[in-house]
Amino acid sequence: MIVGRPQISASILSADFADLGHEVERAVSGGADSIHLDVMDGHFVESITFGPAVAAAIHPHAGGLPVHSHLMVSQPLRHVRAFADAGSDLIVFHVEGDDDPDEVIRAVRASGRGVGLALNPETDAAAARPYLAQIDLLLVMTVHPGRGGQRFLAEVLPKMRALRDEIDDRGLALPIGVDGGVNLDTIAAAHQAGGEVLVVGSGLYGHAGNLRPVVDALRGRAEVSKPGA
Ligand code: DX5
Ligand code: ZN
Repeated sequence: MIVGRPQISASILSADFADLGHEVERAVSGGADSIHLDVMDGHFVESITFGPAVAAAIHPHAGGLPVHSHLMVSQPLRHVRAFADAGSDLIVFHVEGDDDPDEVIRAVRASGRGVGLALNPETDAAAARPYLAQIDLLLVMTVHPGRGGQRFLAEVLPKMRALRDEIDDRGLALPIGVDGGVNLDTIAAAHQAGGEVLVVGSGLYGHAGNLRPVVDALRGRAEVSKPGA
């Protein structure tokens, strides 16, 4: 089991959208490991959030932390260049989307950014299998994408653990991210099942002021759980 130290990725979906620069800085000074941007187009998912212009505006506030753009959009291929230009370090797209994943992976690579592949809760692990050697993050959704503040779907955990085992058996150094419903009550289970990059939205931004105690508590809860145990 090659799972590293748990990393907290701050999803700004539940942040104050009128004050995003400051909200990102709160995550940075709170000790988050990366910033997670949920891009929704009103088509792949019902909601609409923001696009590359907002991602670019946020970037200078990220204090050098990696910025992950999670594209919940149709035809992600059309948007790769814009998010790369906006400074996203990692561009995550869904295997359920309408573009050929191989083509999207090639486009992200050509842009010089890292590639993430996301898997909806009901999507079989087999859908990710052909791409595991070509990506930098496998993002396992533990809610149905589209909204923050939903309940963690623990039934996804066996799939995640199976993927973790498969990745390890193949000797790949691919981290798994967990996205949706991660909070103080669920983070240990998420980490134990092999999740290394723990995306937290409402579990962070539901708190006002200094986020350091929340980030420390989340990491602490994850750390006491032994991956693979
Ligand atoms: C859901 C998004 C998540 C969301 C998680 O579609 O992909 O990143 O922000 O929010 P919480 O942590 O509130 O479930
Ligand atoms: Zn997300």
